Amino acid sequence: MTKLATARAHTNIALIKYWGKENVALNIPTTSSLSLTLDQFYTTTSVEFTDSSKDELILNGISTDSTRVSKFLDLFRQQEGNFSKILVRSENHVPTAAGLASSASSFSALTGAMFNLLELPNDVQEMSRMARKGSGSASRSIFGNFAVWNKGEDDQSSYAESFYDEDINLTMIVAEISSSMKKMSSTKGMQLAQTAPTYGAWVEKAAHQLEEMKAAIRAKDIEKIGLIAQDNALGMHEQNRNSIEPFDYFTVQTRRVIDFAKQCYESGLLAFVTIDAGPNVKIITDRASETELLNKFKVNFPEIPFEVAHAGEGLRYV
Ligand code: ADP
Ligand code: DP6
Ligand code: CO
Repeated sequence: MTKLATARAHTNIALIKYWGKENVALNIPTTSSLSLTLDQFYTTTSVEFTDSSKDELILNGISTDSTRVSKFLDLFRQQEGNFSKILVRSENHVPTAAGLASSASSFSALTGAMFNLLELPNDVQEMSRMARKGSGSASRSIFGNFAVWNKGEDDQSSYAESFYDEDINLTMIVAEISSSMKKMSSTKGMQLAQTAPTYGAWVEKAAHQLEEMKAAIRAKDIEKIGLIAQDNALGMHEQNRNSIEPFDYFTVQTRRVIDFAKQCYESGLLAFVTIDAGPNVKIITDRASETELLNKFKVNFPEIPFEVAHAGEGLRYV
């Protein structure tokens, strides 16, 4: 009997970013982070045992390098006792490696599928801890809506949990400037950022921003949420430019979209930005403003595809 286990997880976008590792091997971050899981972007992953001599990854129907996945599966082997090789089939309903958090949805989905295949207890804390070791941001995609990843100080204490699971009418309009794979992976980019002389100050500020962000979410204050998230994200990208090998995920289009969001805010609309490790911009607004704001962006940037996203659900078996 061949057993197949399948799970689906959505991407999440951090309002307070994870951008640095205190422990690279264990993926312990330098900051705690807070995110919103999105309804529009997700990964579905199936796993089954195979007689093959190595783990295999079929991503969107194409046989793909499985090194990172295999390293992750070895963590399950260390913990649960050795088992045969695994055939992983995964579909990304999100561009891969474009700064739209494919590593978050994919390692969360893979974690869920493996817990199912190995019949491990359905313990979200345990899943979050495991997903973290595949990709840090994946620790948060176990949960729907808002999640906080408390940085912790060791393997046991570093995991994400659900935070304030209420609908606050937050909208993210995703400007898909490019779906190309990035040249600088998140893993590498954040470690370079840590060499910036200003990095310590960004980390220190992030701790305060996290507390302010939690209060703003509880108050359902979209303007405060947007202002803090924008400041945190722009600060993150400054570290890249200040690193010993300066680099930048922004393109000309990225800057134009950021500037236009600023103009919209100055004209009285709720419009803020957050950007991850890629050129794409997520515009933060609320449900009441999204249509008007979207139309403005479409008129100004007819060449850019926009996607309107809201809070999405956590990991589930399918
Ligand atoms: P992103 O911004 O998309 O999260 P990252 O640089 O963090 O970009 O991670 C991209 C990497 O995540 C890919 O190069 C690949 O190794 C891995 N990845 C993405 N999607 C999948 C998937 N569905 N299954 C397995 N690994 C994946
Ligand atoms: C900018 O989780 O992709 O999206 O742990 O090395 O896989 P690894 O990195 P990853 O980094 C995400 C960085 C970010 C911010 C965030 O999601 O918090
Ligand atoms: Co990622």
